[in-house]
Amino acid sequence: MKVTAKANSNIALIKYWGKRDARLNLPAVGSISVTLAGLSTTTSVAFDENLKGDRFILNGQAEAKEESQRVSRFLDIIRQMSGVRQQAIVESSNNFPTAAGLASSASAFAALSLAASRAAGLELSAAKLSELARRGSGSAARSIFGGFVEWRRGEKDDGSDSVAEPLAEKDFWDIRVLIAVTSAQKKKTGSTDGMILSKLTSPYYTAWVESSPDDLNGMRHAILKKDFQKMGELAEFSCLKMHAVALASNPGMIYWNGATIEGLQLIRELRRQGNAVYFTVDAGPQIKAICLPETVQKVSAALENLAGVQRIIGTRLGDGAQLIGEQI
Ligand code: PMV
Repeated sequence: MKVTAKANSNIALIKYWGKRDARLNLPAVGSISVTLAGLSTTTSVAFDENLKGDRFILNGQAEAKEESQRVSRFLDIIRQMSGVRQQAIVESSNNFPTAAGLASSASAFAALSLAASRAAGLELSAAKLSELARRGSGSAARSIFGGFVEWRRGEKDDGSDSVAEPLAEKDFWDIRVLIAVTSAQKKKTGSTDGMILSKLTSPYYTAWVESSPDDLNGMRHAILKKDFQKMGELAEFSCLKMHAVALASNPGMIYWNGATIEGLQLIRELRRQGNAVYFTVDAGPQIKAICLPETVQKVSAALENLAGVQRIIGTRLGDGAQLIGEQI
């Protein structure tokens, strides 16, 4: 049976950085995100007894060894859970340019979790799907759900309580996120290596972990009260704190380029002029501007005019992972 599923990407308002268990991908801190329509991955999976090995095709092309092995290791988890022994063919496509330097692991592993588990005959609850997606990529645990989502750090060693859950539906509050792409290059230090390095070497790492519950509490309240200012201030605080941890690692990780910094200054200037807009940045150079519908146009035009910005992608809140089709 070939099963197809679709999942959206997400952007963290309170960031995940640091692992308490690297093998099970258990985070040192909880995180809160918004799932974004418009940045999605659609994936089909079919287990087939005639295949000699797993095959992974992304946007119509066979993927490089490293990425294929990551998919294969993830399929091993599903084979272990289901008892299915066969190899699989995995066909994925992103609806955004892969070369745009946008992280796709969240939408990719959320879609793969749903499609592959169903193709292997498993019917997992949303919480179990989130736990599974987490094994592929931490942030994928959040993309199982739509709207505003919290991924709990969890306490258990087996990771069964480190799953995401919905905080509020996408229609609860119309938040917009503009993504200003400043570079299409692949980042030098991936998030897993970066997190491990920060834990080992950053003097700020402990403070980051210890101050996390306050950020999560504040963000939960801000969202439920639709307090845009509080939400935005906390999002900027969490983002800059995460980058401070990365910068103070040894060797320090600088994920930004010149245009990123210019963009952050511009967003603060727009705010001083009375526009409701805040920023966040992940482990890469793209600027994410968090807006309300009435500020989208002005912020978009201002970012578009900034030297070094290649394109703007406008997003709004989207749904969680969904089954698209099942074919015998
Ligand atoms: O899911 P990963 O392993 O790619 O880690 C994501 C890390 C950040 O994007 C920097 C923060 C986050 O919470 O999404």
